[in-house]
Amino acid sequence: MKLIAPSILSADGGRLGLEISAVEKAGADWIHVDVMDGHFVPNITMGPAIIAALRKTTRLPFDVHLMIKNPDNYIEAFATAGADYITVHVEAARHLHRTVELIKKAGKKAGVSLNPATPLSSIEEILPDIDLLLIMSVNPGFGGQQFIKNALTKIKRASSMLAQLPQKPLLEVDGGITLSNISAIAQAGADVLVAGAAVFGTDNYSQTIAALKAAANKT
Ligand code: DX5
Ligand code: ZN
Repeated sequence: MKLIAPSILSADGGRLGLEISAVEKAGADWIHVDVMDGHFVPNITMGPAIIAALRKTTRLPFDVHLMIKNPDNYIEAFATAGADYITVHVEAARHLHRTVELIKKAGKKAGVSLNPATPLSSIEEILPDIDLLLIMSVNPGFGGQQFIKNALTKIKRASSMLAQLPQKPLLEVDGGITLSNISAIAQAGADVLVAGAAVFGTDNYSQTIAALKAAANKT
């Protein structure tokens, strides 16, 4: 079963709690939370205080995607705020193994993410230690961008790399996912599909999430 993780980056920022409850009711599996610092990416979003407040609005897992420099300094704060998965960028972590260990020591699932131009070879040595691999299919920073087509072959290659590991980390894809490309992305091997604009840009979340799920689970 493929999982749908709506990204609240595209939700109505003035009603985040209500938006989260609405997508939970509509059948979302995870809540994807994009944290941006204005340094690693050219945009700024939310920090641990907002996440802690939102934690009370849903029982769904919080999938926290850190697009920040020096992630080690903030792992504890995001863990305490209620993150379930904490994903860091390989391009932002100077000692990635230490960062992954910090996440696990905080009792959370550890994810590692790659920008579109970063090769899979850069995470080969950390694969045995992670719970999730996040492949970016847009350059991180903004919602509503177009899916980069070359990401599809990268997803397929990543999927076969992960299949060889005993702990079978989840493969997540983030950026530009729509109703028209979600089947191809799921068939390429993605387990978790992040969708921002494709969910929050519509007015019937139940219908949209049901359609995305059906397309993702079509074999
Ligand atoms: C981009 C974020 C994504 C974004 C996806 O930097 O990591 O999670 O919200 O949005 P869509 O699905 O609109 O491309
Ligand atoms: Zn994201």
